[in-house]
Amino acid sequence: MTSPEWTDDRVYGRRQDKPLRTRHSNLMSDLLPQVAVTPDTVKSIVAAHQGDVWLEVGFGGGEHLAWHAAQNPDVLMIGAEPFINGVAKLLALIDEYDLKNVRVCHGDVRPLMAAIPDRRLSRMFVLHPDPWPKSRHFKRRMISAPFLAHAARLLQTGSELRVASDIPDYVRWTLMRVQIHNRWNKDFQWTANRKADWTNRPEDWPQTRYEKKAIREGRPPAYLKFARCG
Ligand SMILES: C[S@@+](CC[C@H](N)C(=O)[O-])C[C@H]1O[C@@H](n2cnc3c(N)ncnc32)[C@H](O)[C@@H]1O
Repeated sequence: MTSPEWTDDRVYGRRQDKPLRTRHSNLMSDLLPQVAVTPDTVKSIVAAHQGDVWLEVGFGGGEHLAWHAAQNPDVLMIGAEPFINGVAKLLALIDEYDLKNVRVCHGDVRPLMAAIPDRRLSRMFVLHPDPWPKSRHFKRRMISAPFLAHAARLLQTGSELRVASDIPDYVRWTLMRVQIHNRWNKDFQWTANRKADWTNRPEDWPQTRYEKKAIREGRPPAYLKFARCG
């Protein structure tokens, strides 16, 4: 399968805020090399795993990813995140809960996705992607034609793409991008039948710190699930 490529390979958004505390910095130097995945190594890492592989795009502080890894020990959970403080937080969770089924890409998810073999993923998560609210920045949004083309290439039939956003414009944007993608390829089906299906958080969808803050600030999220059909 071929996919349109991203035209801009820069990563926008912050890479670091506060300097890492000693424990986090030790985890970056000691634990990260043991659990790291890169575009060069991802193919062999997924080939070595017999079961399902899930990918979380921009895992932030890693709470959601670590929860799924603990609940689903047979699933290989891969996460990509360029923000070093988030990577260090996920490493702390991997260490604390002794998670053996997590691989961490410290960097841009797009080259990683491009290197994963066709139909090798059975779930993808994009939770609260950066909204980039100004129209001149829309092209930086993660949910895009190339992203959906790669997601369709990577996901197995019957598997799921989950997207959350607390920004109504981004929710509409996501639904529109999927609809446009489906005009040519009927790859995704939004699984919601009624409003509660996307306004109520499913039980197997743990909250992130970002989501809790959004709710506190009066921005209830939408929880979108798309089935990969065909
Ligand atoms: C608003 S935060 C949400 C974080 C997390 N998903 C959550 O819900 O708490 C968006 C995240 O996407 C990450 N991100 C942005 N561009 C990315 C890229 N090209 N590859 C991977 N992650 C990216 C950012 O670094 C940031 O951590």
